[in-house]
Amino acid sequence: MTEVSGDQKKQYVLVPGGAGFIGSHCVIELVTAGYTPIAVDNECNSSRECLKRVEQITGCKIISYKIDCLDLESLRDIFKKYPIYAIINCAALKSVGESVQKPILYYKNNIGCLLNLLTCMEEFNVKNFLFSSSATVYGTPKYLPLDEKHPCIGDAITNPYGKSKYICEHILKDTMVAHPEWNIILLRYFNPVGAHKTGLIGENPIGKPNNLMPYIAQVVVGRLPYVNIFGTDYNTPDGTGVRDYIHVVDVAMGHIAAMKQFEINCGLKIYNLGTGKGYSVREMIKALEKASGKTIPYKECSRRSGDLATVYADPTLAAQELGWTAQRNLDEMCEDLWRWQSNNPNGFQ
Ligand code: UD1
Repeated sequence: MTEVSGDQKKQYVLVPGGAGFIGSHCVIELVTAGYTPIAVDNECNSSRECLKRVEQITGCKIISYKIDCLDLESLRDIFKKYPIYAIINCAALKSVGESVQKPILYYKNNIGCLLNLLTCMEEFNVKNFLFSSSATVYGTPKYLPLDEKHPCIGDAITNPYGKSKYICEHILKDTMVAHPEWNIILLRYFNPVGAHKTGLIGENPIGKPNNLMPYIAQVVVGRLPYVNIFGTDYNTPDGTGVRDYIHVVDVAMGHIAAMKQFEINCGLKIYNLGTGKGYSVREMIKALEKASGKTIPYKECSRRSGDLATVYADPTLAAQELGWTAQRNLDEMCEDLWRWQSNNPNGFQ
């Protein structure tokens, strides 16, 4: 296993949430791009095994700590130990349904982690921050596709998870006013799916998945009996909800492309990470049937509360300013998801 050396050591990138679905894929792309990631994770929804697999994929020893970002003292120790160049913050709770039941937990965790990271940035003079935000901040689309100029109306967001992202974006915008010399980038993800092409890492939800693709994947391996299609009467071509699914490796590469902006002192920037194309629930089931070669049982159910008919991105700004566009199509998303799920039917356990 190689140790990263020389100049690379100067560019330490802290990745809170680095053992999670998005964070672990970012860690791989950071290594590939020549940075030295430091993964910190409280492992509340992730597994140590994931980072071992990342080491297998990259051939590099990954610096990692089991730390909760709510623990300011432990976080400070990391900043004391390493001259951190930038932070990619993927540490957050993300279950919409759970956030409705446990709003205090969600606000405390998602906002508290951000505030502790910003506190350390001030104390240790770190200037570059990249935030995992979500298309959920747009609320109900007033027009499609959603570009970054679309209004974000907090009151229109139906759950504490989404509101916590909205509030975090505002905290970061206010922080930029006080620290104009900092660089802060908000990346609004649409629907990240798929897995690393090695099939060694992928999404590993603890408990029943809330999101469509991990749910379908668990049906295919027999862990769940059938897919519930939430709503067949939407104003969409086949009546089911339409979303902008994007391969998780494309999302991770979007972070690397965005980090180049730090070098030109970009200030505050906001980018959508989506493909610009929407697929329906029925199309997603068919696509995973094709990738897995199996028939996927489903039931048509009533709508899930808070769901929207159609959401997809205008990814033009990221293409123009970052030179980044999603490269992986729906077949690749499903093939990679299937490779991960079929090789690891019980996730990392
Ligand atoms: C959800 C969250 C969003 C969050 C994102 C990623 C809501 C309203 N939005 O997005 O804030 O950023 O997850 O964590 O929850 N579906 C089914 N059956 C299922 C699951 C989903 O039919 O078992 C349908 C949904 O109705 C929707 C589509 O599949 O039309 C995608 O759902 P999902 O994967 O949960 O993502 P979003 O709802 O887009």
